[in-house]
Amino acid sequence: MIIKPDKKMQIPFGALHLGNTARQLISAALDQGLLSCGKLVQEFEEKFAAVNNVKYAVAVSSGTDADILALAVMHDLGADRGDEVIIPALSFIATGNAVLHAGFTPVFVDIDRKTLNIDPQKIEAAVTKKTRGIMPVHLMGKPADMDAISALAKKYNLYIAEDAAEAHGAKYRGRSAGSIGSTGAFSTYVAHIISTVEGGVITTNDPQIAEILRSLRSHGRNCVCSTCVMNSGEVYCAKRFGNPDVEDIRFTFDRIGYSCKMNEMEAAVGLDNIESYDSILSRRYANLKKGMEIIRQFPEHIYTITEEAHEKIGPHALPIILREHSPLTRKELIDHLNAFYIDSRTLFSSMPTQCAGFAWLGHKPGSFPEAEYIGERAIHIGVHQNITSGHLSYFYDALAALFNRV
Ligand SMILES: Cc1ncc(COP(=O)(O)O)c(C=O)c1O
Repeated sequence: MIIKPDKKMQIPFGALHLGNTARQLISAALDQGLLSCGKLVQEFEEKFAAVNNVKYAVAVSSGTDADILALAVMHDLGADRGDEVIIPALSFIATGNAVLHAGFTPVFVDIDRKTLNIDPQKIEAAVTKKTRGIMPVHLMGKPADMDAISALAKKYNLYIAEDAAEAHGAKYRGRSAGSIGSTGAFSTYVAHIISTVEGGVITTNDPQIAEILRSLRSHGRNCVCSTCVMNSGEVYCAKRFGNPDVEDIRFTFDRIGYSCKMNEMEAAVGLDNIESYDSILSRRYANLKKGMEIIRQFPEHIYTITEEAHEKIGPHALPIILREHSPLTRKELIDHLNAFYIDSRTLFSSMPTQCAGFAWLGHKPGSFPEAEYIGERAIHIGVHQNITSGHLSYFYDALAALFNRV
């Protein structure tokens, strides 16, 4: 059978879930005129923490801000500006940017091409006297090797800030990704499983870290309790004005802060997404598993990540990696999928050697061969809740049309 591109079968990369709950909450917030970080954000934080099996969640305006704040906490824990944070060479660029924006120096470690995550065998060689933290990334929802990372962190007294931006719903030895290190940083941008349109959340089990995070997202102010920094509509707050030594504790600043609060309309969308979380997650997971099976039908040309017994992959997207001996280029693969209305994204780049913004750090091309390989030969496509089994068989046919003719 010769398959033809069919616009009706197009597969967009992401799909935002927007239901009645979001519409009703947004409309009520508009009527009351209470739109900046307030009660809905607080409710969203509580529910996000419960879904991820942690005690605290602090909502911010992007996943990048979540990464930055998670790292900036280290200044309160004794780190100096310029100290080092170990990160994988391959990630979405936000991971590398966040280390610099938080005031630290990124130290890159190559990845394992099979898992797409930081290679645990290569981390120890990157530890120096200035290393204070490590930010493992659970790329494409596949958990990083947290046993090895936790053992190294213990040995060298390192802070672990998990970049769980893509790892909603992922489990590592039964524990939620983002709940294993000191903090977990999630993105709630539209392409992610729980979305607030734009946004991010930092999770932690440590009450002191949660307080520091609330201060950091609001200019570093002293006023940190979970309610009084919120725009709740109440005029008088005893904690804010009842201190005999200061006139208004909200304008006392304890640390270098940021300005990245989530707003009420974003939280309303997030609450709606949490309401449908279980069904969205299971549909996405089924699509991911089916997509992985499809990739395995073309072993000569492509491979994808695998799910091991100790983990559950968070169904963020489906990675497709061209094998070394496949005659196809990534551009040919992308163009072919585009012709079939199947949206794809490249699978990021080696930040130190393939991203111009990091050139000043002086890393030579070839220093991170595994990350660079993925940066040249890999893409990912969506597995979102609106993708049906019909779309997936169309995807299979589109791949067969390409691979059976090369
Ligand atoms: C691994 C990783 N870290 C951080 C981010 C940043 O999230 P945002 O786009 O919400 O700033 C992303 C974005 O998807 C990501 O994939």
